[in-house]
Amino acid sequence: MWKPDRQSQKPLYEQIADHLEQKISYGEFPPGSLLPSERKLAEQLGVNRSTVILAFAELRSMGIIESRSGSGTRVSQYKWGATPRHTPNWKRYAEGGSFLPNVPFLRRIREALSQTPSMIDFASGELSGDLSPMNEIAMLMDEHHYTSYLGYANPQGYIPLRQALVAYLDQYRGIQTTESSILITSGSQQSLFLITQCLLSPGDAVAIEDPSYCYSLPMFQSAGLRLFRLPVDRDGVRPEDIRTLYKKHRIKMIFTNPNYQNPTGTFLTDERRNKLLEIASELGLPIVEDDPYSLTDYEGEFCPPLKSVDPHGNIIYIGSFSKIVASGLRIGWMVAPHAIVERLADARQQMDFGLSVIPQQVAAQFLISSHFEPQLNRLRMQLRYKRDLLIEALQKELPGLIQYNIPQGGIHMWCKLVPEVNDAKLLEEGIKKGVVFVPGSVYGSDSGYVRFTFARAKEEDIGPGIAAFAEALRELIK
Ligand SMILES: Cc1ncc(COP(=O)(O)O)c(C=O)c1O
Repeated sequence: MWKPDRQSQKPLYEQIADHLEQKISYGEFPPGSLLPSERKLAEQLGVNRSTVILAFAELRSMGIIESRSGSGTRVSQYKWGATPRHTPNWKRYAEGGSFLPNVPFLRRIREALSQTPSMIDFASGELSGDLSPMNEIAMLMDEHHYTSYLGYANPQGYIPLRQALVAYLDQYRGIQTTESSILITSGSQQSLFLITQCLLSPGDAVAIEDPSYCYSLPMFQSAGLRLFRLPVDRDGVRPEDIRTLYKKHRIKMIFTNPNYQNPTGTFLTDERRNKLLEIASELGLPIVEDDPYSLTDYEGEFCPPLKSVDPHGNIIYIGSFSKIVASGLRIGWMVAPHAIVERLADARQQMDFGLSVIPQQVAAQFLISSHFEPQLNRLRMQLRYKRDLLIEALQKELPGLIQYNIPQGGIHMWCKLVPEVNDAKLLEEGIKKGVVFVPGSVYGSDSGYVRFTFARAKEEDIGPGIAAFAEALRELIK
C-alpha cells in the first residue's frame, strides 16, 4: 500500500495529489468513478484529513475530479471521458518554464510565516517596522505634492532620484559618479537579475562566495550559469582563489558582498580588498559588488566600498534602501559604465517599463531630507542593541551548543551548531515551537549552520525566539 514519504521536501498533499492523478490516468479510477471519502483516504494514508482535503482541492483545480455535496468526489467525465472538453493541466504548466522556483527551505519558511502570524521571525532579511522611518516618510508624503503626471517612467530611473544618489554616493560611500551611470532598480535583487540575464550567457562560469546570499537565489541556475565557489573565512574571500578559478574554469564575473556579508557578517580586510582589485584588473574580470549593508556599521565608521577605490573600472556597484530605510519601497540602484546602464535600462523597458515613479519620488525626498542621517544613526544603535540581545540569548540558552563570530555591522548572525543535526528536521521542529530561521545549507555551506537575522524580530521576541530554538535543538539531540 502506497504511503506518502514524510522525509521528502515535497508537501504531503502534493504527493497524494500526484499519486491519485497517476492512478486515474492508469485507469484504476475510471471517469465518473467514486473516490474514497476524505476521511477514509486519510486513515489509509496515515495523514490528517486536512491534507487529503488539500490534495482533492489541487486535483479539483486541475479539473481532474469533481465534488458534489452529498454524492462524494468523482473522477471528472470531461477530463478523462470521450468528450473533447479538456482542462489544461495547470500543474504541469506551473512546473514548466526555465525560471526555477525558490529553494524548498525558503518556500517552507514563507508558508510557515503566512500560516502562523505569531511565528518569531529570524529568517526574513529585513528591518522590523520600528527600524524604518515610517513617520518621517508619512510626513514627507504629506508635505510634498507627488507626481504631476503618471505616464511611463524613465526606465533608467527618475532623474531627481539619480541626482540625489550622485550626492549620496559621494558623501556616504566615497563614490564619484554621474546620473547617467546610475540605473534605478526594484531593489538590489533586480540588479542581480538583470546582470545574470543580460550580461551573461548560459554556460558562463561565475565565482560566488561560499556561503553566499546568491546560493539562495535559483535565478543564477535559471540563467544557466555555472557557479564556482570562493570560500569565505573570518576575513572574507581569499583573492588568490580567483586566479585559480580563472585558470581552471575561465570565470567571467565575480559576485561579492564584501561588507558585513550575508550570511556570515564578515568584512573583507583592507589587504584582501587591494589584492582582489589587483587580481581582477590583471585578469580583466568584472566584479559585482553587492553592498546593502556597509552603512550599518554599528560604530558609524566609514566603510568604503570597493567601488570607491576602483582605479581600473572593474566594478559594477549595487546598493539598496532595503536594509537602511525600508525593503517595501523596492528602491535599489546600480552604478556601472554607461554602456551597461543603457543596455540594462533597455532590458528593463521590455520587462516592466521601469519602476513606478511614486516610490522613486519618496526615496529622492527622503535622501535629501534632514531625516536621512538621523535614520542611519538610530538604525545603527538599534541594530547593535538587537545583536547584543541575540548574543545574550544564545549564551543563556545554548551554552556549548553553538559557535559564532560577532558581527560589527549588518543584520545577520552566522552560527555553527556543535551537535550534528539534520537541517530539515531542525527547521520543522523550530516551526512547531514557533520560530523560523534559515538553515545554512540554503547559502551553499555544509549543513550544521544556521543564519539568525536579528533585524526583523521585535526586541522582546529575541529571547523567547532563541529559547524556542534551543528547545527544538534539544528535542533532536536527546
Ligand atoms: C547581499 C544581498 N543582496 C541583495 C539582497 C536583495 O535585497 P533588495 O532587493 O531588497 O535590495 C539582499 C537581501 O537580503 C542581500 O542580503
